[in-house]
Parts: sequence; structure tokens; C-alpha cells
Amino acid sequence: MTFDVPADAYARFMGRFSGPLAVQFADLAQVRAGQRALDVGCGPGALTSQLVKRLGAAAVSAVDPSVPFVAAIRSRFPEVDVRSGAAEQLPFTDDTFDVTLAQLVVHFMTDPVSGLSEMGRVTRPDGVVAACVWDSAGDGGPLDSFWRAVRDIDPDARDESQLSGAREGQLAQLCEAAGLRDIEPTSLTVTVWFPTFADWWEPFTLGVGPAGAHVAQLDEVQREVLRSRCEQLLPPAPFEIAASAWCVLARA
Ligand SMILES: C[S@@+](CC[C@H](N)C(=O)[O-])C[C@H]1O[C@@H](n2cnc3c(N)ncnc32)[C@H](O)[C@@H]1O
Repeated sequence: MTFDVPADAYARFMGRFSGPLAVQFADLAQVRAGQRALDVGCGPGALTSQLVKRLGAAAVSAVDPSVPFVAAIRSRFPEVDVRSGAAEQLPFTDDTFDVTLAQLVVHFMTDPVSGLSEMGRVTRPDGVVAACVWDSAGDGGPLDSFWRAVRDIDPDARDESQLSGAREGQLAQLCEAAGLRDIEPTSLTVTVWFPTFADWWEPFTLGVGPAGAHVAQLDEVQREVLRSRCEQLLPPAPFEIAASAWCVLARA
């Protein structure tokens, strides 16, 4: 499991993109005071923190299978109801939430249709189910330059483009198969600034997610070849990376 890493490593690698995305995603789902919300695949809490800000900790629940992430989010938000578990078998009763969200999670589910169907089950009738996944099949994901460099070196390498929901329209198809209603596809874009190339590269060496797992299995020479190819592909520092996510809003 590539999310069995310290919360701090995740924050440095993906949190810099998922933090700003969470603000836009919570806006898109129209999360507002008085609602009860569930963050599915909460990780160390990028979206949970937005939910807490808008709803108060007592109205927020969160669930994730990663042991270090669950420990981190429990200590960060002691009043949030944090559970250990997977989307495919959510540890909540039917119709519990007004809004259930999964930010950057559907593509990591073992069974995305049953995960989304479970999100619908725990959401009250007509409540909102929302999900988003980076555009890793196009050229809009935050790790696009990294995977392009990997493929330049090894055209057979497995990247994240084949993951469920990474292609335009796929999230909506999965929601439909999961029995959700009033499905509205859209997209969101965040921009992150990098002062130096090292700031961009170093978190790839922390073993987080499929990209981190790829770097971890390279020897020192291969790693240097990849690092240098990435540097060639990126603009000179400082630079910005715009990252887009496919999103879907649906009703339970
Ligand atoms: C890219 S991270 C996203 C974390 C957080 N939502 C964010 O936006 O920063 C993916 C998360 O999905 C979790 N995950 C993986 N498989 C899952 C599953 N089947 N059900 C729920 N969460 C899962 C991982 O443990 C990890 O925390």
C-alpha cells in the first residue's frame, strides 16, 4: 500500500496540491453550516480541515484505510469522528450524511463502483455525493511532467493514466453504475508555485503514492537519470504547475 507513509511526507508530496483543491471542492459541493459531512479517503485531512472550518468538528466524519493517516488526523482533529476503513465497506449506517465527498480517492479504490455506491448508501436521500480525480489520462494532472519523464526513459512503465476516473467522463460513468442520480460532471484547476526544482523533486523520493513507489524501486543511477529528465522537461525555476481534476456531483 503506497499510502503507508508518514502524514508529513504526504503533505509535502500531494498535500501542496490537495490543500488548495479542497477549498474549491468544498465550494463546488456547496458544503454549508448545518450539514453533516463524510470525507472518504481523508488521508491526513486536506479536505477534512475545510469541512471542519465550514461545519464544525462535531458535524464531520472521516474514514481512511491508512494506519498512519488515521493516527495523524485523529491527533489533528480530536473531535472529528475518524474511522479506519475503506470506501467499499463504509462503517456508517444508511442515510447518515447530507454530503459525502471523496477527494482524489476513487482511482485508488479496489472497486470504485461499490465505493461510490456505499457513499450513496450512507448519504440521505437527495443528499450530495461528490468525487474528484486528477486528470492523469490527459496532460492536466499535477504529476504530468514526472510521468512524461518516466515514459521517456521506459515506455512500458505503468503510470496513473489507466486508473479509474482519470479520463474525462469516467467518473460520471462510475457514478451511474453505482446507482447515483442527477450526475453533473465538471472540473477544477489549482495552481502551485515552486521556488526551486529541488522543492518540486525532493518529495518524489518520500515513497508516497504510485509515483513515490516508482522512484523507490529505482537504483541510484536510474533515479538520477529520471531526476535529470524531469528537470529538462520542467520550466526553469521558479515555476508554477496548474493541476486539473475531473469532478462529479451527484445525488443519493
Ligand atoms: C491521494 S490520497 C487523497 C487523500 C485526501 N483525500 C486528500 O485529498 O489529500 C488517497 C487516499 O485514499 C486512501 N484510500 C486508498 N484506498 C482506499 C479505499 N479503498 N477506500 C477509501 N480510501 C482509500 C488512501 O489511504 C489515501 O489516504
